[in-house]
Amino acid sequence: MNHETVSDLHRYLRQQRERYGDELYVEQDVLRAAELAAQGLTEENGEVTEAWKSARTLEHLYDLIHDCRKCPLAESRNKFVFGVGDPEADIVLVGEAPGAEEDRRGEPFVGRAGQLLDKILAAVELSREDVFICNILKCRPPKNRDPLPAEVEQCEPYLHKQLEVLKPKIMLALGRIAAQTLLRTKDSLTKLRAGVHEYQGIPLVVTYHPAALLRNPNWKRPTWEDVQKFRQLYDELKSTAE
Ligand code: URA
Ligand code: URA
Repeated sequence: MNHETVSDLHRYLRQQRERYGDELYVEQDVLRAAELAAQGLTEENGEVTEAWKSARTLEHLYDLIHDCRKCPLAESRNKFVFGVGDPEADIVLVGEAPGAEEDRRGEPFVGRAGQLLDKILAAVELSREDVFICNILKCRPPKNRDPLPAEVEQCEPYLHKQLEVLKPKIMLALGRIAAQTLLRTKDSLTKLRAGVHEYQGIPLVVTYHPAALLRNPNWKRPTWEDVQKFRQLYDELKSTAE
């Protein structure tokens, strides 16, 4: 049920109760569920939690979070940038936050950095359709400044939930912010690029952010090497799974 439907239902049930009293018309548990739902909450096994936490599909999760108003970025955004790609993908890419073009279109990595990302994927015979792409923050920070710790703290539970639903086999973190957030570390990007990490038991490779490559083309070569490593690891995972 979307938010408007729930609000309508809630209003209707209230009117019925005012008119007819509790016994006659209103199922108390239905009313309570509607009241909770109107606040974005749900009750499971006697415990009240935010409804999005129990989403089982990406579509449902999107419905429940795309009107998010938890942090001030909601005021300045045009679109909430949930993420895009194959919900069944083995591979998930995580970037930092939407930029201007992403904010306008509601899709991650569609600006200049995104075009470069497409080329990076193509270099290892992958395309956007093969993967799911999302960001640490769903809303654009003004002037593309770095996400504030408070913004990351409010927003990252959505990403963790997406990853729980997506269950990727392998992940690629694009840039320092994505890597540090997913791996809960303050280690430098140089350090994090070395080796293979794990996010919730899922192998995770770290590379430069494509926007950083636009500023410093010297980083293209090492990025190519990182994604080759990533591709090789993915092929190994696939062959052992078969
Ligand atoms: N909107 C998106 O951007 N992605 C989805 O998967 C669903 C809605
Ligand atoms: N940079 C990011 O980190 N994410 C986007 O979606 C676009 C640019």
